[in-house]
Amino acid sequence: MMQNTPPGTIIIVDDEIESMTAMRDFLSELGYQAKGYLAGRDAVEALQEHGCDLLMTDLMMPEMDGITLMKTAKEIDPQIICIMVTGYGTIQTAVEAMKEGAFDYITKPADWKILRLVLSRAMEVRRLMKSEEQMRISRDQWRAFAGRLAEAQERERQRIARELHDEVGQNLIALGMNLHSLRNPLTDKRTGKMDPRLSDSLGILADTNQTIRNVIADLRPAVLDDYGLLAALQSHCDRFSKRTGLHVTVHGDEDMPRLTGVAEITLYRIVQEALTNVAKHAQAQNVSILLKQSDTTVLLKIADDGTGFDPSVSHHAKEAGTWGLLNMRERAEAIGGTLSVESEIGKGTRVVVEIRK
Ligand SMILES: Nc1ncnc2c1ncn2[C@@H]1O[C@H](COP(=O)(O)OP(=O)(O)OP(=O)(O)O)[C@@H](O)[C@H]1O
Ligand SMILES: [Mg+2]
Repeated sequence: MMQNTPPGTIIIVDDEIESMTAMRDFLSELGYQAKGYLAGRDAVEALQEHGCDLLMTDLMMPEMDGITLMKTAKEIDPQIICIMVTGYGTIQTAVEAMKEGAFDYITKPADWKILRLVLSRAMEVRRLMKSEEQMRISRDQWRAFAGRLAEAQERERQRIARELHDEVGQNLIALGMNLHSLRNPLTDKRTGKMDPRLSDSLGILADTNQTIRNVIADLRPAVLDDYGLLAALQSHCDRFSKRTGLHVTVHGDEDMPRLTGVAEITLYRIVQEALTNVAKHAQAQNVSILLKQSDTTVLLKIADDGTGFDPSVSHHAKEAGTWGLLNMRERAEAIGGTLSVESEIGKGTRVVVEIRK
């Protein structure tokens, strides 16, 4: 039978040459890429070199028996599918082999019809396992990528914060000194009133200083490095409260041991993003933040008493280009944690992050 894409590769092992060749020829007829060996040792070598989708092995063989061969094969490729071939007298052993992880067994002499069915089912399972493996690898790669991206983003934020502080900040100080030196010359001696352009400039300078300080604090929370997560969250929440008028409380254990740098910045960023969402969407009055540690986990909860929403609907919003929740989840997962959103219309929203220590 001719096929464009072979339906899979199979290694057959049987110490009886007639039985092995008959099986191999039949499988080749079906379109499989089949290779036959008389001893387990040779099959192991072939497996190590080329791999295969499926191993069909006789159970009773001198030197290496079928079960030992299967175990060795699974060490080489944990997803290999093994089918045992057995004589009528050794069905009990075949059952044992199933317990050890064989996919199925067939009796000798093989019923070709049954064999054909068993093989196509086995190949289907192999394909599923392979694609699952592929998906797991892609997910792991994506997570690693998200982690690296977050790190790069932090470094960039740090750089911008430093630049703002060292360049813009210093220039503003110089500008302030110059403006202050103009106080005397630009003050009317008679009335004692400062030139309105100067007082306006001093006002603008003070506002700009405040803005820059806020931007720097948001970009790179210095408190985080110096005093830890709880203090940094408190400081951020104070600023957030002033900006939005929302009432925010932060609860946590003051003596909590420090987390890793990446865990701290991750949780900090999640709180920032969650609070931004509250300000943007929730129409809430109060937000409470809880940070709790046990021996094995860290728990962070951000709860608001706002409008709430249907999280399953917001899921589709991803396609509409909303990134906040997705980002928060990716951040949590990049450090091996989980993030869940509990919300219901009219019942507020809770964002819960759990990280294993
Ligand atoms: N605390 C909240 N209260 C009410 N609705 C919320 C809250 N948090 C999120 N939502 C809803 O979930 C949606 C998705 O949030 P997400 O942060 O992913 O996107 P966004 O805030 O709309 O946009 P982006 O974060 O990309 O600027 C929001 O559009 C909003 O409808
Ligand atoms: Mg958002």
